[in-house]
Amino acid sequence: MHRSFPFVVVSVFQSALALVQKDGVGKLPALGWNSWNAFACDVSEEKIMTAANEMVNLGLKDAGYEYVNVDDCWSVKAGRNSSTNQLIPDPTTFPSGIKGLAKKIHALGLKIGIYSDDGTTTCAGYPASLGYESLDAATFAAWGIDYLKYDDCNVPPEWMDQYESCVPEPRDSYPGPFQNGTCPPKYYSRPPPPASYDWSTSNTTKRYNIMRDALFAQNRTILFSLCNGGQAEVSTWASATGNSWRMSGDITPNWSRIVYILNENSFLLNSVDFWGHNDADMLEVGNGNLTLEENRSHFAFWAAMKSPLIIGTALDELSSELVDVLKNRYLLAFNQDAVFGTPAKPYKWGTNADWTWNSTSPAEYWSGASGNGTLVLAFNPLASAVQKEIVWREVPELNSGGAAFEVTDVWTGENVGCVSGGINRTAASHETVGFVVGTECQGTLQSSNSVGSLRSQTSSVRSGPMTSGDGRGVKPVREDL
Ligand code: GAL
Repeated sequence: MHRSFPFVVVSVFQSALALVQKDGVGKLPALGWNSWNAFACDVSEEKIMTAANEMVNLGLKDAGYEYVNVDDCWSVKAGRNSSTNQLIPDPTTFPSGIKGLAKKIHALGLKIGIYSDDGTTTCAGYPASLGYESLDAATFAAWGIDYLKYDDCNVPPEWMDQYESCVPEPRDSYPGPFQNGTCPPKYYSRPPPPASYDWSTSNTTKRYNIMRDALFAQNRTILFSLCNGGQAEVSTWASATGNSWRMSGDITPNWSRIVYILNENSFLLNSVDFWGHNDADMLEVGNGNLTLEENRSHFAFWAAMKSPLIIGTALDELSSELVDVLKNRYLLAFNQDAVFGTPAKPYKWGTNADWTWNSTSPAEYWSGASGNGTLVLAFNPLASAVQKEIVWREVPELNSGGAAFEVTDVWTGENVGCVSGGINRTAASHETVGFVVGTECQGTLQSSNSVGSLRSQTSSVRSGPMTSGDGRGVKPVREDL
């Protein structure tokens, strides 16, 4: 049976449409695990079940993680079933089929995600869904799928966009640096659009909307996660198409790449609210040679930006220290806040002047409202330790910033007490210090690290948007300032 009103696109905030699904699916950033960052194409039922079991054993399920997602390379590469045209799960690596796997994952109280693509083949060259959207959506629904990650590789010429948007990331034709996050003409293989161009009319939007409609025609709620590397200015239209959308190219387990994405996303956060989230890509916590401080900063900012938090590491090999990072209750609570849908945003850059686009030294001082208080983060992008100073009067959410507040350290859980003026901490290289600043108090107790006597160093935040000459400039993070 098909649902008669399968989904609602409603305007929940002034400027954008949001995709509202049943049972609150997609309202908050998705929490889960995905196979790609850990295993790439070397994926199997066994590895997926190990991850699912570890999600339960390690307490990640109890902390809120629910999706177990199979990425690319799960199907028979040679092609579809010649009589039904259905995708075929690889019988060697997925002996129970995806339906059998879904049953096992559901039996653990978890949900299952799958991967496809809006071109002729996936990014790794497996059969993809262009032209088969209804069939694939019906197949996924019949298998018990709860989440679809939908990629954007191998799009045939007739489906390509007329124009190319700017995703300010290095490529052969232009390695950067990028002035204010804009792309120079020689960066493009197709022409940039005219200033008035509406990307929601692009072929990319159409391809994604076909799959959205196919999913919503099924009698099953399936979270729709767009993965088009930030192309086609996806964050300007995708809230009416999907529940999350990648805003950048792929993450890697390198500090430089993590900071690159952090900087990019810091200029795109106005598109994030309930039901629609910029996806800063899956977590690399536990991968590569990231230090504890780097793992923590990565997780803290992905949580604060309200990105989906999709773990991408081999959970059976993860240290308990890093499991604790992934389970951080204060950061998860902010990411999943039921009261405020908007993310934390920078209120001061720090090393650089405010609004500076800098992919190695992004904005350092961030804040955001939550039902539990204001989350404030201060991050050290430098190679050596520095003192970070959070001054209440500079934090927009603390508009009576002269007062004192109850403060909790997000890493230690320590109740720091009633702190007036602000707070100081030493941050090691690449470390992020963070606090939940709660209710106002009398200010009799002061932390030894309080900066109560400090004069507020009010920053010179620009009020206008960052623009480039051609109008394709990045948007201001805080239009309200
Ligand atoms: C990329 C995508 C990755 C992964 C990979 C699979 O485009 O960004 O997250 O899904 O394709 O081939």
